[in-house]
Parts: sequence; C-alpha cells; structure tokens
Amino acid sequence: MKRVHIITYGCQMNKSDSEMMTGLLKQKGYLSTTDIEEADLVLVNTCSVREHAESRALGRLGELARLKRKRADLILGVCGCMAEHQKDQLLKKAPHLDFVLGVRRLAELPEIIDSVEKGSSSILCTGPDRKSPPPLHISLRNTGLKAWLPISLGCNNSCTYCIVPSLRGSLKSRDSREIVKEAESLVKNSYREVTLLGQNVNAYGQDRPGETDFAGLLEQLNAIPGLSRIRFATSHPKDISPRIIEALADLPRVCEALHLPIQAGSNNILTRMRRGYTVEHYLEIVSQLRKKMPSIAITTDIIAGFPGETEEDFESTLAVVKEIGFDGAFTFKFSPRPGTPAAEMTGQIPEQARKERLDRLIEIQNRITKQKNEGLIGSEQEVLVDGKNPKKPGFLLGRTRTDKTTTFAGPEDLIGQIVKIKITKATTWCIGDW
Ligand code: 5AD
Ligand code: SF4
Repeated sequence: MKRVHIITYGCQMNKSDSEMMTGLLKQKGYLSTTDIEEADLVLVNTCSVREHAESRALGRLGELARLKRKRADLILGVCGCMAEHQKDQLLKKAPHLDFVLGVRRLAELPEIIDSVEKGSSSILCTGPDRKSPPPLHISLRNTGLKAWLPISLGCNNSCTYCIVPSLRGSLKSRDSREIVKEAESLVKNSYREVTLLGQNVNAYGQDRPGETDFAGLLEQLNAIPGLSRIRFATSHPKDISPRIIEALADLPRVCEALHLPIQAGSNNILTRMRRGYTVEHYLEIVSQLRKKMPSIAITTDIIAGFPGETEEDFESTLAVVKEIGFDGAFTFKFSPRPGTPAAEMTGQIPEQARKERLDRLIEIQNRITKQKNEGLIGSEQEVLVDGKNPKKPGFLLGRTRTDKTTTFAGPEDLIGQIVKIKITKATTWCIGDW
C-alpha cells in the first residue's frame, strides 16, 4: 500500500473535505498516515479566508520543498480554497508542486493522481466543478464517535469581506435522502453525534424548491433511533426562520447550541458588510431563542476593524457583546481579501488600530465566557465522553450538549458514553469537576 499524509488548514468544512479525499485516495490504494516521513503523497488542504491562513500554508509549502528535494518520487499537491484563489500563481511560488486542485474540483483527485503517477507535473485544475461531489459514504473518518456531515456546498450570500462564495461557488444542497442514509449508517457504525456542515446551513434546500428545507432535515435526522446528538454550523442570522428556532427547541436530539456569527454590533458596519440584518433583528433572534431554551449556548464570530469602523461603531460592538453575553466568540482582525468589495472600500483601518480593537474585544469576551461558565457551577450536565484528558492523568474529556469542554475523573470505559456530571469548577476554557 502507498501512504498519504494530508495537512489541513481552515474550517470544519475543510476538515470534512480532507476526510472525503482520504476516502477517494483509499480507492486508489493509498492508506492515510500521520507520519509525513513515510508518505508517498502529501496533500495540503488550504484556506483563504484571511491572509494569515494563506501565509501559514505558503510557509509550510516552503518546508515541503526541502522534503521533495530529498525524495524526488514524493507526490506533492495543494488543494482547497487557496488552490482556487491563487491558481497558477501557486505553481510560480512553489514550482516543486505536482498539482494544484481547486476546491470545486476535489472529486477529480483520483484522475489527477493517475496523471502524476504517469509522469505529469505542475497540473492546474481549478474553476467550476465538472463532476458531482463524491457520495457521502466515501468519507473516511478517523474518529469513531462524532462525525461531520456536509449538507451543502457554496453560499449565495455576498458579504463584502468574504472570499468564500467566489471560491466555493453558489449554494448546492445535497439530497436529503442521501444525508439521512449516511447518518443512519454512521449510527450503525456506533457514531453518536453528527455536525451538519455548510457555509450557511440555514439556507439548506433553498436551491431545491419543493424539497426538504433545513428544519425538515433536522426533523428527519431527529427521528433516527440511536443518534444521540445533532449539531450544525454555520448559521446566518438572516436565514434563521421561526421554523428553525422551533426545531432547535422541540427536537430532543438537536443540541441547544447555536453558532450565529454577528460580525459587528453597529448597523452602519453591518450595512457595509452587506449582512442583510440589523443589530435589532439579531437581538430579537437571541431573545426568542432564550425564551424557548433558557440554557442555550450562543457563540459568534466578530470582525474588528472593518473599513469605515469608527471608534463609536466599535464601541457599539463591545456594548452588544456585553448585552448579549455570548458563550464564546471567534474574533478576527479584518483582513482585506483581494477581489472582495471590502478590500477596495475607503476608510481602511491601520493594522495597529485593528489589532488594538481586537485585543480589547478578546479581553471583554474572555471575561464574559468565564462568567457564563461559572454560572454553570452547581448544575448537572449531560456529557458525551470523548477520551482521556492528555493533561490530567485519571481525568476524561467530553462535551456538554451546549458544546462546552468538560473534564472530570473517571474510568476509560466511559469513553463513548453520555454521563451526567455535576459541575464544581469553571474557567474560560473548561468546566467540570476537578
Ligand atoms: N477578514 C477577517 N475575518 C473574516 N472572516 C471572513 N472573512 C474575513 C476577512 N476578510 C471571518 C468571519 C467569518 C469567519 C469564518 O471568518 O467572521 O464568520
Ligand atoms: Fe462568507 Fe457570508 Fe457566506 Fe459566511 S455566509 S461564507 S460570511 S458570504
């Protein structure tokens, strides 16, 4: 058998794409390995969402050039968003690459490998897809408990900062029957949790009129016996319908956790971002969610230093962050992406000011996350046990329904089970009993 080593950057969708490619490669006789030294094929699955992600991958490609010089027969390819974004530029920057495979062309990986094995190099395969995505059951996961399930590809929105729609294309939802079948087969293979993935899962089905919508899909998945937990990411505030809120509240397997990127807490900035909702609308969704599910955990994404963001705009964001009290937030400095409208806008904020705003935001949010977690002290939480705690001998790690990392003492045979834990301690990063 030949061996493949995949290095994955970026979001959960990219990690799920890597699992799909691992499955495709297995059919070509490649087993996956964690040891790069024994790999015959090294694949770098890249992200373009911020400049930082691209520079990290470029750095890695530089290191891989050295490996390739040592071992001329090593096949080296780049795939994913940056492959689509930089196209032939990548072959110029990294001439040692055998192929560059765009994010909409991943299904063609087996043919590309064939060509390279026959002696081709510097292959460029980007642009719109020519083949349907491989079936969901192709994916080869190395975890046995929790699975990612991609339910849609692409995105029909046009947020002015975001490069993703131009790379991954417009929304394409998968057939709900295939998704349900895959979830059933995961349960048969003793998986207990699925996380439905899409750039905007709430828009699921909008491109398949007359068929199942997102709330309908949740209902069908909820009916699968043996599937303990259903999660999904990412949601878009403008597409959260009352039906989706009801599904979250009423379906027992759907966990009370929602990742709902707000991006900014000023209507002026939300308009410039072309997000399609106001702060007031966002607050209304939060209030409805909390009315129906007082224990729900709401997490978010926020960009600091978007072009045109005044000190006043930024202070509104901080005020909204405090008012809502998110359970957690992924916070980013605005990164101008070539080709997006925001990169061309007037009022670009200097790097130093973006960084300073980001630091202020992180400081406040970390305090809030800690307070939220401390609020759980004394409560009992249902925890799905993931494994041993590598930092604390004798302790296990798991996740609550609200997706909080939890640690507690216990025997290893609890791994894979759902247990009730009384919370006695909490930090910004973890809750549990220790
Ligand atoms: N600059 C900074 N952050 C960005 N994101 C997307 N594009 C950019 C950008 N150009 C953030 C958003 C999104 C998350 C995945 O990444 O907050 O929700
Ligand atoms: Fe980008 Fe907006 Fe689509 Fe998310 S929903 S991928 S932020 S365009």
